[in-house]
Amino acid sequence: MAQIIKVLKGTKDILPQDIEMWQFIEEKANKIFSSFGFKEIRTPIIESTDLFSRGVGETTDIVNKEMYTFEKSDRSITLRPENTAGVVRSYIENGMSRLSAPVKLWYKGPMFRYERPQAGRQRQFHQVGVEMFGIKQPQADAEVILTAVNFLKSIGLNDLEVEINSLGCPKCRAVFKENLKEVIRPYLKDLCEDCQERFEKNPLRLLDCKVPDCQQIYSKPEIQKVITSDFLCEECSEHYTELKKYLDNLDVKYSENKHLVRGLDYYTRTVFEIKSNNLGSQNAVCGGGRYDNLVSELGGEPTPAVGFAMGMERLISLLPEKTPSLSDAFIVSNNPVEAFKLAQYLRENNINTEMDLSNKKFTKQLEKASKTAKYALILGEDEIANKQVSVKNLETSEQKTVSYEDCIALIK
Ligand code: HAM
Repeated sequence: MAQIIKVLKGTKDILPQDIEMWQFIEEKANKIFSSFGFKEIRTPIIESTDLFSRGVGETTDIVNKEMYTFEKSDRSITLRPENTAGVVRSYIENGMSRLSAPVKLWYKGPMFRYERPQAGRQRQFHQVGVEMFGIKQPQADAEVILTAVNFLKSIGLNDLEVEINSLGCPKCRAVFKENLKEVIRPYLKDLCEDCQERFEKNPLRLLDCKVPDCQQIYSKPEIQKVITSDFLCEECSEHYTELKKYLDNLDVKYSENKHLVRGLDYYTRTVFEIKSNNLGSQNAVCGGGRYDNLVSELGGEPTPAVGFAMGMERLISLLPEKTPSLSDAFIVSNNPVEAFKLAQYLRENNINTEMDLSNKKFTKQLEKASKTAKYALILGEDEIANKQVSVKNLETSEQKTVSYEDCIALIK
């Protein structure tokens, strides 16, 4: 026998018995995001590698270690590790800055990161997300967070933790970074390898290191004093205060986390995550924030923007399993011509109908019907002669012989 080829590590099939949950989440995303005025956008899964190295940032783990990159006709191409950069590219390329602000876009689809697979972390995973362009006021941040919370509620996730923080603007953040390095420098040799590497390149990322020894160092009073210091400039501070007021008014519960820094370089001011206590170490279902400089960094007019993305696999793992739904009807018959006719009639009337396609015995057909459908529609010789069908409710075993028209009313 030929050798079986298996699915790649860190990737998964989404099987028919699981697909309804995916469809449920995608439909809710469409409904809730549309209710806020977001329009769906679909961008390519492959993009120029430069888009991510410039967009997501050269110092991030995503760009440094996790991209699926390949050469084709002397061009370097990358499977998208996230979708903000792609949506920004499309916004610029399609002149969406000419549209009146805000421009609100949402998306769903697969992303690719070459990470070490573990529970809640895959190499191909799926996101739903939104991006809003053109509004610098904190109302936009509040509306984006509200969109995320409303969507999560709509799928039955009411009790997740919203965490927020402000990373300031490049100006006030630069001073903060220097202060941080200053107090951490004496402990540099005791930090984990990742933190040592990030110390110069991306010192903010030290704050979300999960290694206990590093966490212990960062909890020292002189370091905490800097981490919790109010480093924001006047405008950034006002933006953050206003955002919190809006969230309070909207009754969105949140906590402030000074260690929340996010793993992508494009953020300015607001960052947020929504977490679950039931997910183990990969506990963020949603991550987002403001990125006021990304559009101009990728060649567009300076345009403020804010958005989020959620991991669909993580959402699904928090929801109770759905049992796959049954077909409405299964036709049991040894007369394929008549069975096809009835099936066609039912399908035209929006009744999901299956039928036996191999002339099995009636008992076998009934067995199959009871596993896959709500009603067995029996078309024996008598029924055909009288232009009728016997409709058997497979839950109650009640059976009635009726005309084709009445059969529709009975099932509906
Ligand atoms: P992110 O935090 O990298 O942000 O990803 C968002 C969400 O995608 C995470 O909270 C998590 O639920 C899910 N996720 C990320 N990596 C994986 C993985 N390897 N396996 C399974 N799920 C994963 C972004 O991607 C930004 N583009 C979000 C954004 C949009 N910011 C502004 N606009």
